[in-house]
Amino acid sequence: MSEVKTYPVSTNASQRAWIDESKYFEMYEKSIKNPDAFWGEQGKQLDWIKPYTKVKNASFEPDNVSIKWFEDGTLNASYNCLDRHLAERGDQTAIIWEGDDPGEDKKITYRELHEMVCRLAGGLKSLGAKKGDRITIYMPMIPEAAAAMLACARIGAIHSVVFGGFSPDSLANRIQDCDSNILITADEGLRGGRKVPLKKNADAAMANCPSIKHCVVVKRTGGDIGWQSGRDVWHHELCAQASPDTPAAEMSAEDPLFILYTSGSTGKPKGVLHTTGGYLLFSAMTHKYVFDYHDGDIYWCTADVGWVTGHSYIVYGPLANGAVTLMFEGVPNYPDASRFWQVCDKHKVNIFYTAPTAIRALMREGEEPVKSTDRSSLRLLGSVGEPINPEAWKWYHEVVGDERCPIVDTWWQTETGGILITPLPGATPLKPGSATRPFFGVQPQIVDADGKPLEGACEGNLCMTTSWPGQMRTVFGDHERFVQTYFSTYPGRYFTGDGCRRDEDGYYWITGRVDDVINVSGHRMGTAEVESSLVAHPKVSEAAVVGYPHDIKGQGIYAYVTLLVGEEPTEELRKELVQWVRKDIGPIASPDLIQWAPGLPKTRSGKIMRRILRKIAENDASNLGDTSTLADPSVVADLVENRMNQG
Ligand code: PRX
Repeated sequence: MSEVKTYPVSTNASQRAWIDESKYFEMYEKSIKNPDAFWGEQGKQLDWIKPYTKVKNASFEPDNVSIKWFEDGTLNASYNCLDRHLAERGDQTAIIWEGDDPGEDKKITYRELHEMVCRLAGGLKSLGAKKGDRITIYMPMIPEAAAAMLACARIGAIHSVVFGGFSPDSLANRIQDCDSNILITADEGLRGGRKVPLKKNADAAMANCPSIKHCVVVKRTGGDIGWQSGRDVWHHELCAQASPDTPAAEMSAEDPLFILYTSGSTGKPKGVLHTTGGYLLFSAMTHKYVFDYHDGDIYWCTADVGWVTGHSYIVYGPLANGAVTLMFEGVPNYPDASRFWQVCDKHKVNIFYTAPTAIRALMREGEEPVKSTDRSSLRLLGSVGEPINPEAWKWYHEVVGDERCPIVDTWWQTETGGILITPLPGATPLKPGSATRPFFGVQPQIVDADGKPLEGACEGNLCMTTSWPGQMRTVFGDHERFVQTYFSTYPGRYFTGDGCRRDEDGYYWITGRVDDVINVSGHRMGTAEVESSLVAHPKVSEAAVVGYPHDIKGQGIYAYVTLLVGEEPTEELRKELVQWVRKDIGPIASPDLIQWAPGLPKTRSGKIMRRILRKIAENDASNLGDTSTLADPSVVADLVENRMNQG
């Protein structure tokens, strides 16, 4: 490794920060030595209906995986995000909304958001929604999406947000898996000047989802849409008739708050289940300390509410803290590559949180689109979703942040609910590319392939030895899969699926997934999902999908496809297959490269040797390792030769 430059904590950052370096170590130690006392104290940041007397109750033992926090307390998440702020900050902005079109924006106060949420909550109740029901949300990035989540939380219904870029089939699968009875969507979305046919997709999905009794439709563009009377209702009509003061239901801390589907290394996406008390506390507390949020700060997370980052760091964390959270409907390069920074200037954004893939894409456009803007309001920058390469880190720091703003490289997962490994801006010297140190209560362990814990500077697989409040509780409807996926590889520990290095300063460096999950532009994809889509095509016999390094996306999708005997491998078919996957799963799953494979490298027992396919895709064929166990070693030579013909 070449010498790594360290960026010391700036005096500005440490002076204003909630947590400086000595406080970090002091609090961290307390959080590990006495979690009950630590979290028992922190839990008071929330408003409880019935206070808890128990704090942590968690076991990672494979025969008894059970995770509970604050289990005898009761509260309501929407009350914590809205009602409790009304007396002090009812007229303060809660959401700044910036439309896709730079001419469109609005500000919504806490009082207004409260009324939006109460009305929708009342409307949902009038449609028959009740505690424990699953409600699917398939929305563009408009304030009604955040309000829909909070309306569900208000009445104790469990929301399942499905990213608006997913196909009708992906939406249908997610509705079916959790058996939703209500779908909330919009007529159309708007992204980069283009319309997204949400209601049309929803109609196609609902054709296969008899469980859906009602579809609530927000009018966003006013475009033409299909309508099924009796089932479909306009959001504005439903809300107009409902009470502006629907009460918040009393929920147990361990009642489910939401389900969010995410990809794993096998099978269909799983419904990650988060509960109310621990999740809300953890998202609020990490938002406050990691972004060093103080009253009056303008905070912008560029994620979509369809991903966990949007849940925890656009909606729940910021709103629980009474923050000003900016919600952006558009994309980084529309109308041009200055858009992010124009929005920062327009709304005087202080804290900006985005993904490395966006940084890399903007970096390609050069410095001018950044330097032509002011950005002097920016104080802190954040990164999430994938490893940030030091080159992109430095560009973010120097060009975007004018060397003034610390960067918090936050490592976490849908499963973790909130940030687990991260710098704190007033406490942590930074090293480009490292997520640095664990957050309070988080105990990482790096293990070798046999599960043996490694000490000191080392590299291996990243586990957690103990629970934190924001941890997922189960896979919806399949606790066995939860135990299998996360607690069986290294018994007694939560296995993240990530590889990780720890340096001599105790800093963590995430090296990427070590399972069959790939990270494309910060979006998680299971290679198995793309494979099963490809083999569903009538001309395809077999497919194997791996990730490969991609300049902008971090990882690209590389598919090896074997056609049925007699089918011709044409350029047209290649394009058709890309479209096929795009339509089947969604644009984020489109293969970047398809290589025709007369055969796939398999062991004698028929297992595909992905290690070899990864090496070939990475253009590292000189390093294939042991191929002696292959049933037919000649297939490798063919694949290597033809790799040359790809981009
Ligand atoms: O591989 C890690 C990567 O993203 C995975 C989690 O993806 P997802 O559940 O979609 O959540 C993304 C947003 C929290 C992780 O297993 N990842 C996330 N953040 C980082 C990261 N890899 C390196 N550095 C990060 N800061």
